[in-house]
Amino acid sequence: QEKLASLGQLAAGVAHEINNPVGFINSNLTMLAKYTDRALQLIHHMEQTIESQHDEAAIAELNKARTAYKYKYLKNNIMAVIDESLEGVDRVKQIVQDLKNFSRIDEAEWQWADIHAGIESTLNIAWNEIKYKAEVHKEYGELPNIECVPSQINQVIMNLLVNSAHAMEEPGNIYIRTSSQEDKITIQVEDDGSGISDDIIGKIFDPFFTTKEVGKGTGLGLSLSYGIIKKHNGELTVVSTPGKGTVFTIVLPVSRNHSDHKAA
Ligand SMILES: Nc1ncnc2c1ncn2[C@@H]1O[C@H](COP(=O)(O)OP(=O)(O)OP(=O)(O)O)[C@@H](O)[C@H]1O
Ligand SMILES: [Mg+2]
Repeated sequence: QEKLASLGQLAAGVAHEINNPVGFINSNLTMLAKYTDRALQLIHHMEQTIESQHDEAAIAELNKARTAYKYKYLKNNIMAVIDESLEGVDRVKQIVQDLKNFSRIDEAEWQWADIHAGIESTLNIAWNEIKYKAEVHKEYGELPNIECVPSQINQVIMNLLVNSAHAMEEPGNIYIRTSSQEDKITIQVEDDGSGISDDIIGKIFDPFFTTKEVGKGTGLGLSLSYGIIKKHNGELTVVSTPGKGTVFTIVLPVSRNHSDHKAA
């Protein structure tokens, strides 16, 4: 189970790989724009040269060629085509950057992190998936920074939020609550979606268990999330009422050392 990379890490890995080709597509397109501009100027210069010779046959030939190659259309559109491509590349660059920020692939290690900041960036990433399905209510308490692998905690919150959004048969509500207790913190994601029936609630943390149609879910979200929280010495639990909604609760120790002491 731990060997399976989370979807977020996979996406970030792919994003990392995309960076390189996007980089040279970008610089090549920029160069192509310059070269094209020069080629157009050269053609313009040649046209003027031919026209200034007052050679009727040559001018007729030139006009024939202009028509055959749809030159007027080409001249008017070629720069716009390149500019649009550059815009597209810019957008890909932005997406790659967002993905990298989200998973913080460059610093995928234990550190003291602000959970609320992680929730906010996760909400930004998941927003398209959520916005038409649910209203998000934030009920944040006071939280200390906690020692964790932030990209992985973000991944868990992402999975819970997307699951909640998917559980909405009609637009509903998602509540994100945080609080702290002594040497622990609690994060809750509650929804008023479909709920989970008793006969499947025991299986939802199993790898590949899904009730979603093919292509919609892999059934890995919760099993990965469970693994991540366990690695953090925390707990991930669920309480659900069919037809009413579901509450997932994450409890995490504030520091790694502290829980080691306890275990020892
Ligand atoms: N908030 C929820 N409300 C109702 N059912 C849920 C909720 N969260 C999870 N489930 C149920 O648990 C199943 C397993 O969830 P899990 O996140 O592991 O996989 P998935 O969402 O189906 O697919 P994936 O997350 O891999 O895209 C879901 O298919 C769904 O039936
Ligand atoms: Mg899921």
